[in-house]
Amino acid sequence: MRKPLIAGNWKMNNNVSDSLKFAATLSVELKAAGQIDVVMAPPFTALYSMGVALSDTEFKLAGQNLFWEDSGAFTGEVSGEFLAEIGCTYVIVGHSERRQYFGETNETVNKRLMAAIRHGLIPIMCVGENLAQRENGDTWQIIEEQLTDGLRGIDLRTVAHFVIAYEPVWAIGTGKTASPDEASGVHDSIRNYLKERYGDETAGKIRLIYGGSVTPANSRELITRENIDGALVGGASLDPKKFADIVRSAH
Ligand code: 13P
Repeated sequence: MRKPLIAGNWKMNNNVSDSLKFAATLSVELKAAGQIDVVMAPPFTALYSMGVALSDTEFKLAGQNLFWEDSGAFTGEVSGEFLAEIGCTYVIVGHSERRQYFGETNETVNKRLMAAIRHGLIPIMCVGENLAQRENGDTWQIIEEQLTDGLRGIDLRTVAHFVIAYEPVWAIGTGKTASPDEASGVHDSIRNYLKERYGDETAGKIRLIYGGSVTPANSRELITRENIDGALVGGASLDPKKFADIVRSAH
Protein backbone atom coordinates (compact mmCIF):
# COMPACT_ATOMS: atom_id res chain seq x y z
CA MET A 1 0.00 0.00 0.00
CA ARG A 2 0.99 3.61 -0.40
CA LYS A 3 2.70 5.18 2.59
CA PRO A 4 0.89 8.36 3.68
CA LEU A 5 2.87 11.57 3.32
CA ILE A 6 2.36 14.82 5.18
CA ALA A 7 4.41 17.74 3.93
CA GLY A 8 4.64 21.25 5.35
CA ASN A 9 5.29 23.97 2.79
CA TRP A 10 6.51 26.95 4.80
CA LYS A 11 6.60 29.23 1.76
CA MET A 12 8.50 32.47 2.58
CA ASN A 13 8.17 32.05 6.36
CA ASN A 14 10.60 31.14 9.17
CA ASN A 15 14.18 32.34 9.22
CA VAL A 16 16.94 30.08 10.54
CA SER A 17 16.26 30.73 14.21
CA ASP A 18 12.47 30.26 13.79
CA SER A 19 13.17 27.03 11.92
CA LEU A 20 15.40 25.68 14.67
CA LYS A 21 12.73 26.46 17.27
CA PHE A 22 10.21 24.64 15.09
CA ALA A 23 12.49 21.60 14.83
CA ALA A 24 12.96 21.49 18.60
CA THR A 25 9.22 21.69 19.31
CA LEU A 26 8.34 19.18 16.61
CA SER A 27 10.78 16.61 18.00
CA VAL A 28 9.00 16.88 21.38
CA GLU A 29 5.50 16.83 19.87
CA LEU A 30 6.16 13.98 17.51
CA LYS A 31 8.65 11.45 18.78
CA ALA A 32 8.72 9.46 15.57
CA ALA A 33 7.29 9.66 12.10
CA GLY A 34 5.96 6.10 12.42
CA GLN A 35 4.28 4.83 9.29
CA ILE A 36 4.02 8.31 7.79
CA ASP A 37 6.49 10.18 5.62
CA VAL A 38 6.82 13.55 7.34
CA VAL A 39 8.38 16.25 5.18
CA MET A 40 9.16 19.91 5.74
CA ALA A 41 9.92 22.48 3.07
CA PRO A 42 11.60 25.48 4.74
CA PRO A 43 12.99 28.41 2.75
CA PHE A 44 16.34 27.67 1.07
CA THR A 45 18.24 29.63 3.72
CA ALA A 46 17.03 27.36 6.52
CA LEU A 47 17.43 24.00 4.76
CA TYR A 48 20.98 23.31 5.85
CA SER A 49 20.48 24.06 9.52
CA MET A 50 17.17 22.18 9.55
CA GLY A 51 18.99 19.20 8.05
CA VAL A 52 21.51 19.30 10.88
CA ALA A 53 18.77 19.75 13.52
CA LEU A 54 16.73 16.84 12.14
CA SER A 55 19.64 14.53 11.38
CA ASP A 56 18.75 12.10 14.17
CA THR A 57 15.08 11.98 13.24
CA GLU A 58 13.08 10.31 10.48
CA PHE A 59 11.72 13.66 9.30
CA LYS A 60 12.62 14.57 5.75
CA LEU A 61 13.33 17.83 3.96
CA ALA A 62 12.11 19.28 0.69
CA GLY A 63 13.17 22.25 -1.38
CA GLN A 64 10.32 24.55 -2.40
CA ASN A 65 11.60 24.79 -5.97
CA LEU A 66 14.70 24.01 -8.05
CA PHE A 67 16.22 25.25 -11.28
CA TRP A 68 16.53 22.89 -14.27
CA GLU A 69 20.24 23.46 -14.90
CA ASP A 70 22.82 22.01 -12.52
CA SER A 71 25.15 25.02 -12.27
CA GLY A 72 26.27 28.10 -14.17
CA ALA A 73 25.37 31.74 -14.74
CA PHE A 74 21.82 31.69 -13.41
CA THR A 75 21.80 34.38 -10.75
CA GLY A 76 19.42 33.68 -7.92
CA GLU A 77 18.70 30.07 -8.80
CA VAL A 78 19.26 26.89 -6.79
CA SER A 79 19.93 23.55 -8.48
CA GLY A 80 18.81 20.05 -7.67
CA GLU A 81 22.43 19.13 -7.10
CA PHE A 82 22.68 21.68 -4.28
CA LEU A 83 19.45 20.47 -2.68
CA ALA A 84 20.54 16.84 -2.83
CA GLU A 85 23.95 17.72 -1.36
CA ILE A 86 22.45 19.19 1.79
CA GLY A 87 20.18 16.23 2.34
CA CYS A 88 16.86 17.09 0.72
CA THR A 89 14.84 14.03 -0.18
CA TYR A 90 11.97 15.82 -1.90
CA VAL A 91 11.39 18.97 -3.91
CA ILE A 92 8.15 20.83 -4.61
CA VAL A 93 7.68 21.55 -8.33
CA GLY A 94 5.08 23.75 -10.01
CA HIS A 95 3.38 25.20 -6.95
CA SER A 96 0.55 27.50 -8.01
CA GLU A 97 2.34 30.48 -6.42
CA ARG A 98 5.27 29.80 -8.74
CA ARG A 99 2.86 29.56 -11.66
CA GLN A 100 1.00 32.72 -10.64
CA TYR A 101 3.85 35.05 -9.61
CA PHE A 102 6.97 33.68 -11.30
CA GLY A 103 5.86 32.60 -14.76
CA GLU A 104 5.99 28.86 -14.19
CA THR A 105 4.42 26.92 -17.06
CA ASN A 106 3.75 23.25 -17.68
CA GLU A 107 6.88 23.21 -19.87
CA THR A 108 9.13 24.61 -17.14
CA VAL A 109 7.53 22.24 -14.65
CA ASN A 110 8.61 19.41 -16.94
CA LYS A 111 12.21 20.70 -17.08
CA ARG A 112 12.34 20.99 -13.30
CA LEU A 113 10.96 17.47 -12.88
CA MET A 114 13.72 16.18 -15.16
CA ALA A 115 16.32 17.96 -13.03
CA ALA A 116 14.82 16.55 -9.82
CA ILE A 117 14.99 13.04 -11.27
CA ARG A 118 18.64 13.52 -12.31
CA HIS A 119 19.56 14.33 -8.73
CA GLY A 120 17.52 11.61 -7.06
CA LEU A 121 15.03 14.03 -5.54
CA ILE A 122 11.41 12.91 -5.24
CA PRO A 123 9.22 15.56 -6.84
CA ILE A 124 6.05 16.79 -5.19
CA MET A 125 4.40 17.98 -8.40
CA CYS A 126 1.57 20.45 -7.86
CA VAL A 127 -1.50 20.70 -10.04
CA GLY A 128 -4.80 22.49 -9.58
CA GLU A 129 -7.34 24.86 -11.07
CA ASN A 130 -8.07 28.45 -10.08
CA LEU A 131 -11.50 29.81 -9.18
CA ALA A 132 -12.38 31.09 -12.67
CA GLN A 133 -11.39 27.77 -14.22
CA ARG A 134 -13.50 25.88 -11.69
CA GLU A 135 -16.49 28.16 -12.25
CA ASN A 136 -16.17 27.66 -16.02
CA GLY A 137 -16.28 23.91 -15.53
CA ASP A 138 -12.68 23.56 -16.76
CA THR A 139 -11.21 21.87 -13.68
CA TRP A 140 -10.42 18.55 -15.26
CA GLN A 141 -9.21 20.01 -18.55
CA ILE A 142 -6.68 22.19 -16.69
CA ILE A 143 -5.42 19.35 -14.53
CA GLU A 144 -5.17 16.96 -17.45
CA GLU A 145 -3.09 19.51 -19.36
CA GLN A 146 -0.84 20.08 -16.34
CA LEU A 147 -0.29 16.32 -16.04
CA THR A 148 0.11 15.63 -19.75
CA ASP A 149 2.61 18.41 -20.40
CA GLY A 150 4.30 18.31 -17.01
CA LEU A 151 4.97 14.56 -17.12
CA ARG A 152 6.05 14.47 -20.77
CA GLY A 153 8.91 12.06 -21.39
CA ILE A 154 8.94 10.62 -17.86
CA ASP A 155 8.93 6.84 -17.85
CA LEU A 156 6.96 4.35 -15.79
CA ARG A 157 9.62 3.37 -13.36
CA THR A 158 10.50 6.98 -12.55
CA VAL A 159 6.98 8.31 -12.19
CA ALA A 160 6.10 5.54 -9.73
CA HIS A 161 8.13 7.41 -7.07
CA PHE A 162 6.46 10.75 -7.69
CA VAL A 163 4.11 12.56 -5.35
CA ILE A 164 1.37 14.57 -7.05
CA ALA A 165 -0.30 17.28 -4.99
CA TYR A 166 -3.76 18.42 -5.98
CA GLU A 167 -4.02 22.01 -4.76
CA PRO A 168 -7.10 23.88 -5.95
CA VAL A 169 -5.85 27.46 -6.11
CA TRP A 170 -9.10 28.82 -4.65
CA ALA A 171 -8.52 26.75 -1.51
CA ILE A 172 -4.96 27.94 -0.83
CA GLY A 173 -4.66 30.26 2.14
CA THR A 174 -8.36 31.11 1.94
CA GLY A 175 -9.74 28.86 4.66
CA LYS A 176 -11.97 27.31 1.97
CA THR A 177 -11.00 23.67 1.86
CA ALA A 178 -12.33 21.52 -0.95
CA SER A 179 -14.88 19.20 0.64
CA PRO A 180 -13.70 15.60 0.99
CA ASP A 181 -16.07 14.70 -1.87
CA GLU A 182 -14.78 17.47 -4.14
CA ALA A 183 -11.14 16.65 -3.37
CA SER A 184 -11.51 12.92 -3.67
CA GLY A 185 -13.45 13.30 -6.93
CA VAL A 186 -10.45 15.03 -8.49
CA HIS A 187 -8.03 12.56 -6.90
CA ASP A 188 -10.02 9.67 -8.36
CA SER A 189 -9.82 11.29 -11.79
CA ILE A 190 -6.06 11.78 -11.43
CA ARG A 191 -5.64 8.12 -10.45
CA ASN A 192 -7.70 7.02 -13.45
CA TYR A 193 -5.68 9.27 -15.75
CA LEU A 194 -2.45 7.76 -14.39
CA LYS A 195 -3.81 4.24 -14.83
CA GLU A 196 -4.62 4.92 -18.46
CA ARG A 197 -1.26 6.49 -19.09
CA TYR A 198 1.03 4.23 -17.07
CA GLY A 199 -0.98 1.12 -16.21
CA ASP A 200 -2.55 0.02 -12.94
CA GLU A 201 0.60 -1.10 -11.17
CA THR A 202 2.57 2.11 -11.66
CA ALA A 203 -0.45 4.36 -11.11
CA GLY A 204 -1.17 2.51 -7.87
CA LYS A 205 2.24 3.48 -6.49
CA ILE A 206 2.07 7.23 -7.12
CA ARG A 207 1.04 9.14 -4.02
CA LEU A 208 -1.67 11.75 -4.49
CA ILE A 209 -1.83 14.32 -1.72
CA TYR A 210 -4.25 17.19 -1.18
CA GLY A 211 -3.36 20.80 -0.36
CA GLY A 212 -5.48 23.87 0.37
CA SER A 213 -6.44 25.07 3.85
CA VAL A 214 -5.69 21.72 5.51
CA THR A 215 -5.93 21.94 9.31
CA PRO A 216 -6.04 19.43 12.18
CA ALA A 217 -9.85 19.84 12.07
CA ASN A 218 -10.31 18.66 8.49
CA SER A 219 -7.25 16.53 7.72
CA ARG A 220 -8.61 13.20 8.86
CA GLU A 221 -11.71 13.19 6.72
CA LEU A 222 -9.61 14.10 3.68
CA ILE A 223 -6.77 11.67 4.26
CA THR A 224 -9.03 8.69 4.91
CA ARG A 225 -10.37 8.84 1.34
CA GLU A 226 -9.07 6.05 -0.86
CA ASN A 227 -7.11 8.20 -3.28
CA ILE A 228 -5.96 10.90 -0.87
CA ASP A 229 -2.60 9.69 0.40
CA GLY A 230 -1.68 12.66 2.53
CA ALA A 231 -1.55 16.44 2.61
CA LEU A 232 0.55 19.39 1.52
CA VAL A 233 0.00 21.90 4.29
CA GLY A 234 0.75 25.63 4.13
CA GLY A 235 -0.42 27.88 6.97
CA ALA A 236 -1.08 25.15 9.53
CA SER A 237 2.39 23.69 8.99
CA LEU A 238 3.97 26.79 10.55
CA ASP A 239 2.74 25.72 13.98
CA PRO A 240 4.59 22.57 15.06
CA LYS A 241 1.71 21.48 17.30
CA LYS A 242 -0.85 21.76 14.51
CA PHE A 243 1.52 20.10 12.07
CA ALA A 244 2.04 17.22 14.52
CA ASP A 245 -1.74 16.89 14.93
CA ILE A 246 -2.15 16.65 11.16
CA VAL A 247 0.55 13.95 11.03
CA ARG A 248 -1.24 12.04 13.81
CA SER A 249 -4.52 12.27 11.93
CA ALA A 250 -2.94 10.28 9.11
CA HIS A 251 -2.16 7.26 11.31
P1 13P B 1 -2.58 26.63 2.90
O1 13P B 1 -2.58 25.33 3.70
O2 13P B 1 -2.09 27.79 3.68
O3 13P B 1 -3.91 26.84 2.25
O4 13P B 1 -1.52 26.43 1.72
C1 13P B 1 -1.58 25.30 0.93
C2 13P B 1 -0.38 25.25 0.07
O5 13P B 1 -0.23 26.05 -0.83
C3 13P B 1 0.62 24.22 0.35
O6 13P B 1 1.55 24.14 -0.67
